[in-house]
This record gives sequence, C-alpha cells and structure tokens, in this order.
Amino acid sequence: PLVGTGEIVGAAAAARHGCGAFNAIQLEHITAIIDGAAAAEAPVIVQLSQNAVKYHGSLAPVGTAALAAARAATTPVAVHLDHAESADLVREAVALGFGSVMFDASKLDYTDNVRATREVAAYCHDHGVWVEAELGEVGGKDGVHAPGARTDPDEAAEFVASTGIDALAVAVGSSHAMLTRDAALDFELIARLREKVPVPLVLHGSSGVPDAGLAEAVRAGMTKINIATQLNKVFTAAAAEDWRAHPERVDPRKYLGAGRAAVAVEVRRLLGVLKLD
Ligand code: G3H
Ligand code: ZN
Repeated sequence: PLVGTGEIVGAAAAARHGCGAFNAIQLEHITAIIDGAAAAEAPVIVQLSQNAVKYHGSLAPVGTAALAAARAATTPVAVHLDHAESADLVREAVALGFGSVMFDASKLDYTDNVRATREVAAYCHDHGVWVEAELGEVGGKDGVHAPGARTDPDEAAEFVASTGIDALAVAVGSSHAMLTRDAALDFELIARLREKVPVPLVLHGSSGVPDAGLAEAVRAGMTKINIATQLNKVFTAAAAEDWRAHPERVDPRKYLGAGRAAVAVEVRRLLGVLKLD
C-alpha cells in the first residue's frame, strides 16, 4: 500500500535502523524498487527528483505511475519528491498525492534558506505533507564533487527550530553521483548532529559510501538513506550486458527487463545493509 514517508522514517528512527529511499527515473526503476523491497519484506521510499521530472517534461505521468505502483504494492511504499528547488513543483506534487517532499534551498545562504524552507514547510504541513530540507550543501548535483562541505550541529538545530521541517539532510562527507564507493563519512559529526537535531537525519549521496560505511552511518544516527547512482550503475550494466549478448534483438523489454531485475536484487541487498542485519 501507499504510506506516508513520515511513517517509514519515524519507525526506522525509533528502531535505530536505516530506511532506503531510492531514486526512480522511469517505470522500470519504480517497479524494481518495489519488487526489491517486497523481496526484503521491508518498507521503501520511492523518490522522484526535480531532475527526473525535468527529463520527463512534467511530474504527472511518472508521478502518477509511482503512486499507482505504490498503492498496488504488497509492502509499505512511500512516494517522495526529491531535491525540489521549485516551490511550484512542490505544490504540484502535493496536489498529485505525494506524501512528502524534499525542498532544497541549500544553495542559498542561511537566512534565505530558512525563509524559503519555512514557507514551503508551512504550505506542506497545511496539506498533511512531510517535509525534508537541506543545510550545508551536499555537492555533486552539478557534476562537481564537493565532499568538503559540513553541516554545523548548532546551526542545524536552529535551522530545524526556525523552519519546522520533519527531517534534515546534512553534509557529512558524502557527495552526489559518485561512481566509486569510497567516500569517507564523518561518523563523529553524525553522532553530534544526532544529539543536537530533534528530527531524523537524511544521508544524501549514499552511492559513494561503501556498505560498511552505510551501516556505520546508521549506527551513528542517520535514518533516511538516499541512493540513486548505485541503482543506475547496476541498471545500465545489466541492460548493456543483455544488449551486447543479443545485438539482433529490437524489443527494449529484453534489456530494460534485465536492468529492472538487477535493480530489484540490488535494492533488496541494500535494504539488508540498512537494517543492520
Ligand atoms: O537525493 C538523492 C541522493 O542523494 C542520491 O545520491 O546518486 O550519490 O546515490 P547518489
Ligand atoms: Zn540528494
């Protein structure tokens, strides 16, 4: 069934487990993520980023598909809008039935980030929607890796109090779109953030982090673990292998299906890592 992101994240935080939030680009990702979660018998968050929406030209076709797939799922599935820099897109997602959004004003300076985020959070809460925001920009969204950024724990606590958000994305050493899995996280900083910040913490750029680092991050206090690039790597490798093995085939379902199956296996595996078992 379709559930709220807050339910999944809240339960994971209470149990001190991690929960997986996986980015989908197209329908094959959506169904693979849900299949992987069903195999793991775990709840899952399917997220669509503003960049994925841009790729499709609009939110509704892919967003409606994600919501329909979640409603039909046998395990709890939440549908989340990821990295929205546009308040208009947030309103569109809320109207469509998304249970949560991440509003990303992390490129702005502190005061402007607070002002913009507080406004979006108030709108979302009026509509019963859970809100994540970011403080201390996690690099790599523009193709430039900037793992140097760090979120200050005192500023993070003040940011949460001033904006009323439900979860906070923090910069602790990861970076978006890393193809290698060797990023070193600052676990001591995660523990200090956990102590000071009263809402669940979100790790972005998790594909660059090795499995042991993900588990350690959860132990140190991270809850929502965002994973995108790793699934794309797995999808593309499996689709390419299938396509190379059968270059005479013209039906995209063959190689897309191979990609989808591989992503489901990887989601199941990663959910096992985050559950700390
Ligand atoms: O919001 C999405 C995540 O931060 C994904 O980052 O592509 O490095 O896994 P990633
Ligand atoms: Zn991110």
